[in-house]
Amino acid sequence: MNDPRSSLIVALDVPDRAAAIQAVDRLAGHVGFFKVGLEIFTREGPPLVEQIRKRGENVFLDLKLHDIPNTVRGAVRSACRLGVQMLTVHASGGPAMLEGACEEAQSSSSPPLLLAVTALTSLSPEDVRTLGIGGSIEDWVEKLALMAYGSGIRGIVASTKELPMLHRKFQGEMKLVIPGIRPAGSAQQDQARTATPGEAIRSGADFIVVGRPILQAHDPASAADAIVADIRQALSKPA
Ligand code: C5P
Repeated sequence: MNDPRSSLIVALDVPDRAAAIQAVDRLAGHVGFFKVGLEIFTREGPPLVEQIRKRGENVFLDLKLHDIPNTVRGAVRSACRLGVQMLTVHASGGPAMLEGACEEAQSSSSPPLLLAVTALTSLSPEDVRTLGIGGSIEDWVEKLALMAYGSGIRGIVASTKELPMLHRKFQGEMKLVIPGIRPAGSAQQDQARTATPGEAIRSGADFIVVGRPILQAHDPASAADAIVADIRQALSKPA
């Protein structure tokens, strides 16, 4: 069985570098990855990522890249130089952008896992129609995921809602990274649809992303350990 800690990604949704590094120091050894998102990366930039990497911790750089292929290639190259382990790109950038991103990542000495973001979960069915896309959101997610797979992508960020469909479709060929996770009995906050860590793992998640339930806990390391215990149980007793 894999180390269940390696499936846990903590979202560093904190205001600044000091708070981020404090969280990393408290949680090192308890979780698998630290997710650096757009807000904190825009504020603190590469030095934050370097500081986390110097501590020997894994970084998921969640920049959701979406631009012309040449520009995205350049951004992937820069992220590879930072030594990150995971990086997000938008599937809707299309095959040429995704193929370029994959090629660029593969040419690095330690390629990160590129993850495609499909439909943003903030979009309503009405928003999707306004964008000129027919059919259901789930159909659109499926099309984007298949196109991403055909372009060389081997990981997807998806909601708990799409997890069963993606698990059926890809049967382990795509790593599935799932946010919107809430330990049993904790507050949903602004997440509309949630799963517990164990439920997500049993439904086929390879990694779960957890922010507030860990960062806002009285004792973040114990909160992370409880989540890891739930993951361990799910891995030892799959559905
Ligand atoms: O605090 P919480 O556990 O809700 O944080 C979840 C993290 O996952 C946040 O960084 C959020 O931006 C991210 N995320 C999400 N839903 C998505 C994609 C990313 O909650 N569909």
